[in-house]
Amino acid sequence: MSSSLFSAQGQSKATALHAKASTDYATKLAETQALLQRAAAEFSPLTQASSLGAEDVVITHLINSLQLHIPVFVLETGALHTETLALLERTEATSQALVKVYHPVRESVIQFVKHKGQDAIYQSIELRKECCGIRKMEPLARALKSQRAWITGLRQEQSAARAEVPLQDDSEVATKNLSKFNPLAKWTWGDVWHYIATNNVDYNPLHDQFFPSIGCAPCTRAISLGEEFRAGRWWWEDEAAKECGLHVKK
Ligand code: ADX
Ligand code: SF4
Repeated sequence: MSSSLFSAQGQSKATALHAKASTDYATKLAETQALLQRAAAEFSPLTQASSLGAEDVVITHLINSLQLHIPVFVLETGALHTETLALLERTEATSQALVKVYHPVRESVIQFVKHKGQDAIYQSIELRKECCGIRKMEPLARALKSQRAWITGLRQEQSAARAEVPLQDDSEVATKNLSKFNPLAKWTWGDVWHYIATNNVDYNPLHDQFFPSIGCAPCTRAISLGEEFRAGRWWWEDEAAKECGLHVKK
């Protein structure tokens, strides 16, 4: 095996393992760039939601290279991996667009841990969702307050539940006056890594340790060969429950 497959720590490099553009990559890239430009021209205020995962670093890079000045927000749940926090710091230092960080309400986290316990999230889906409510959903509501649209890294290939994700989702315009753009909806995992490799984009080193989908540390593990893309997220729960609510419509 070529040595370029491995990092200095002897880990396999995600770029070397996954970068493989689909045959229509150039068309998809042009479509994505046009969509971001149209979103920036037609929707204000507009913001990008970034978990700092592979898809999101691609979108932030595209926004910066197109000089669209769309602010980025990160929900810093207080339970992210140190690798993710380090990437957040690097992003804040290098991004041309404003990077806003939202934290949960401290007292809510303290009360949850005090009354429900450190390991509550593994005990029931209800308690796990209560934690997501405090650490993600409430801060998300603050991040999206008064926004006309947001941009996410959702892709159709990520799971069966996401197979129909559209490039533009206007299903919450009537209720919330909020559109959602998913510019990578049609991209494959290979396309994402092709972009990262060819543009030398900084990424979360956890991707080199077989973490394709990265959320909070207590709720994310590496996956094994042949496992589903999101198998490492809330791995102790049924497939159907595996969403934290960020993308679930009421
Ligand atoms: S989740 O609902 O299971 O947590 P996932 O990790 O697949 O979502 O990420 C999908 C998209 O949701 C990301 O591309 C990003 O746009 C948004 N997102 C997820 N987590 C965060 C976060 N911590 N901060 C900001 N946006 C996020
Ligand atoms: Fe809490 Fe896990 Fe949800 Fe993060 S993903 S908010 S730690 S339950």
